[in-house]
Amino acid sequence: MTTTQHGQNEKDLENISIDELQALQLQRMKDTLLHAYQNSPFYKSQFDNAGVHPDDLKSLSDLAKFPFTVKADLRDNYPFNLFAVPMEDIVRIHASSGTTGKPTVVGYTQNDINMWADVVARSLKAAGVTKKDIVHVAYGYGLFTGGLGAHYGAEKLGCTVIPMSGGQTEKQVQLIKDFNPDVIMVTPSYALNLADELDRQGIDPKTLKLRVGIFGAEPWTNAMRDEIEKRLDIQAVDIYGLSEVIGPGVAMENIQTKDGPTIWEDHFYPEIIDPETGEVLPDGEEGELVFTSLTKEALPIIRYRTRDLTRLLVGTSCVMRRMDKITGRSDDMLIIRGVNVFPTQIEEQILSIEQLAPHYLIEVCKEGNLDKVTIKVEANKKLSDNEHEFVIKELQHKVKTMIGISSSVVVEAIGSLPRSEGKAKRVIDKR
Ligand code: DLL
Repeated sequence: MTTTQHGQNEKDLENISIDELQALQLQRMKDTLLHAYQNSPFYKSQFDNAGVHPDDLKSLSDLAKFPFTVKADLRDNYPFNLFAVPMEDIVRIHASSGTTGKPTVVGYTQNDINMWADVVARSLKAAGVTKKDIVHVAYGYGLFTGGLGAHYGAEKLGCTVIPMSGGQTEKQVQLIKDFNPDVIMVTPSYALNLADELDRQGIDPKTLKLRVGIFGAEPWTNAMRDEIEKRLDIQAVDIYGLSEVIGPGVAMENIQTKDGPTIWEDHFYPEIIDPETGEVLPDGEEGELVFTSLTKEALPIIRYRTRDLTRLLVGTSCVMRRMDKITGRSDDMLIIRGVNVFPTQIEEQILSIEQLAPHYLIEVCKEGNLDKVTIKVEANKKLSDNEHEFVIKELQHKVKTMIGISSSVVVEAIGSLPRSEGKAKRVIDKR
């Protein structure tokens, strides 16, 4: 039985009641606010400027009185100024690449690393993984949290871990064939790349032992889930997380229900806010996901605005709440002639057309004053002229009627669109 640094053992949590959970959250939230206030000059000045003190938290909903933390706060305090423990207590650093400028840097104490391994082990259990399983980790190792986060959790559960990391696609497939893993942990877009490579090498996924894929680090639709399950002959489940909060394992989908990730609320307290006003929204309403860490030591994170858009839903496999599949990040939202569009909406339409492969790229540019969208897709087999014409018209029609935007569709040669080895880049915005 694993015991966290807070004395709560994993076994008890499966049957915890809502009242017990909330009492635990409140105690941990008080401790976290006080720890942040006393040990991080950043949080002290944030709270002081907002006129709040950790003592003002009497109930969970009082959290709304406290100021948000945003990505720019991590960048402004680059690299280590947000840490709330002495540097000698930090045992690990990770950083998220960020597309522009400085990376955001996060740090962990030994207790943080242990808690992280616990929540990832718990996540693997929710996916039906046991210590008997061989786990192939194809998330990148290094500063990205995916590889090492998955690794420590799988090891903690007692699995046999293959630390493959991302890239070297041919070799990945060879090892999947030779080492016979039961489980693969990888981004959904890279999983498709691996499926293509299996095809290329003439390997039938049905001859492999792979049973479960644990996919995350980027948005993916249920249509994509169906596609991956079919192509790899596995069950596909969703793992969510972000480096600022811990890494993978903030939330994990249960393989029995496949109805959106359960948030491990005993460690990460979720809120949904209106992204415009910052007001907290009731469960069930869509908005921006905000997290407060409840047990982290090195980098307590208070009301961190993730930019991820989703809803909170009642728990199904335990009392902890679920999140709906992420629609997208507010940063990834395209505004096309005034219409808000997420790449995932376009993905859904592409995958509803039988002849199209799950690879795509969305290009946006200006034609005069107007936004012009080109959706580049690939067919999954050679198309006749009639089929070629049909898929173009069909996708344009679906995008127009379901999403409300006009687009050009280009069917590119099979295998010609860029393939991902980690997080896919779906959009090129030339405006
Ligand atoms: O991507 C951590 C991770 C690694 C999660 C492996 C799952 C698996 P970051 O690089 O900091 O951390 O990126 C975090 O990725 O805010 C979301 O926008 C997106 N993201 C992560 N998981 C999912 C998911 C890792 N399951 C950012 N669905 C987050 C949709 C996801 N988006």
